[in-house]
Order: sequence, then structure tokens, then C-alpha cells
Amino acid sequence: MTVTLPAVCLLLLGLASRCSGLDIPPHDAVARVARFVANQCTWASMATISSHDPVQGQPFSNAFSVSDGPLGHGSGVPYMYLTRMEISVQDLQVNPQASLSMSLAQTDYCIQQGLDPQSPLCAHIILSGSILEVNDTAEAEFAKKWLFWRHPEMMDWPADHGWFFAKFNITKVWVLDYFGGVKTVTPEDYFKATPYRKHPHSG
Ligand SMILES: *[C@@H]1O[C@H](CO)[C@@H](O)[C@H](O)[C@H]1NC(C)=O
Ligand SMILES: *[C@@H]1O[C@H](CO)[C@@H](O)[C@H](O)[C@H]1NC(C)=O
Repeated sequence: MTVTLPAVCLLLLGLASRCSGLDIPPHDAVARVARFVANQCTWASMATISSHDPVQGQPFSNAFSVSDGPLGHGSGVPYMYLTRMEISVQDLQVNPQASLSMSLAQTDYCIQQGLDPQSPLCAHIILSGSILEVNDTAEAEFAKKWLFWRHPEMMDWPADHGWFFAKFNITKVWVLDYFGGVKTVTPEDYFKATPYRKHPHSG
């Protein structure tokens, strides 16, 4: 059995984003591409509806660390570690609806392929939905494990800030991974998809 380059990278470096030759699913397997991007990205830009003057009611986009699980076996659910002291989280208290944008521009892939971040070939996704606090103990454990694994600094964030685990509840997935405009994926198809090939030649 052949071991593909990305698999070797994952084993050697832990983070595939530091490796060349990311094994991206074919662009027409849109749901798989979306899961792949969501799993590779370590941060997302989250847009909320601002509750703050002087931009109240206007879109407000801000960077957040995310993790959907281990690299190669992501759950597809972007988990976050939040505090109500944070400006965008305050927006979410008023209106939990949000949009998350993630791009392979944050991996080495687009740079090595010579792809501009705005090129659809530099695959990026936009998730519509809302932020929910994770109350279930087992799910919170999962979120903690894989957020802290990707973002070890989180362990040392100030204990008096009231950090909690949250997840992005996806209602619609928008995918830009090729020419011809945006494609959409339902949450059902997104969660059914397998982003990584199990066998190198089975497609
Ligand atoms: C967690 O509990 C809060 C407060 O009771 C509730 O608003 C929220 O919807 C719950 N989250 C989930 C994922 O059920
Ligand atoms: C979460 O998303 C699903 C669609 O995947 C939607 O049906 C449901 O209403 C959402 N839940 C909340 C609390 O927004």
C-alpha cells in the first residue's frame, strides 16, 4: 500500500498546513472540499451583527481560533473557546446569528500553488448559522481536547475571563473552490461527506 505525501506530512509534522501537497478532494466533490477546508483551518473570520456604537446593526468581522477535531478526522463542527468579555461574543448575546469564513489561504497550499487568496482555486468556504454554547459534557470534552491541541496557548488564557466552549451550528455551507460561482451544500450533505481519501486510488 502506498503512503501518500500528506499522510507522511501528518505523521511527521502534525500540522498538514506546514506541508506541501495537501491532498484536496476534487473541486466537484463540493461537500468533501468544504469538510477539508473546515478541518485544515485553525482560525476563521467570524462576522456578527454589531451591537456596538457607532456600527450597531452593521456586519463586524473578527478572527477566532477554531478546531473541528483531529487533522484528518474532523467532525465538521467548528468549535470555539469564547468569553463574554469579547466584543463579537457580546454581539452574539444580542443576536447569535453569525457567518464563519475559512480559507486554504491560511495553509501553505495556496502560496505553493501560486494562488491568490481571492482566487476560487484557493478553496474557501463560508458557513451560515449561529453560535451555540456547548452544554453537553462529552461534547465539551471533545471541544476542549481538540481546541487545546491545536491552540495550546488557550490552556493559559486568564481563568477569570469566564471562558466557555461554543460551536457553530451550520444552517448553510457556501463553497468557492472553482470557477463558475459559489456552490452550496446542505448541513446533511456536509456532515455525511468524508474529506480525506482512505485509499489512494479509490477516488
Ligand atoms: C446551552 O444552554 C443555553 C442556556 O440554557 C441555551 O441557550 C443553549 O441553546 C444551549 N446550547 C445547546 C447547544 O443546546
Ligand atoms: C441548527 O442548525 C440546524 C440546521 O443544521 C437548524 O435546523 C436548527 O434550527 C439550528 N439550531 C439553532 C438553535 O439555531
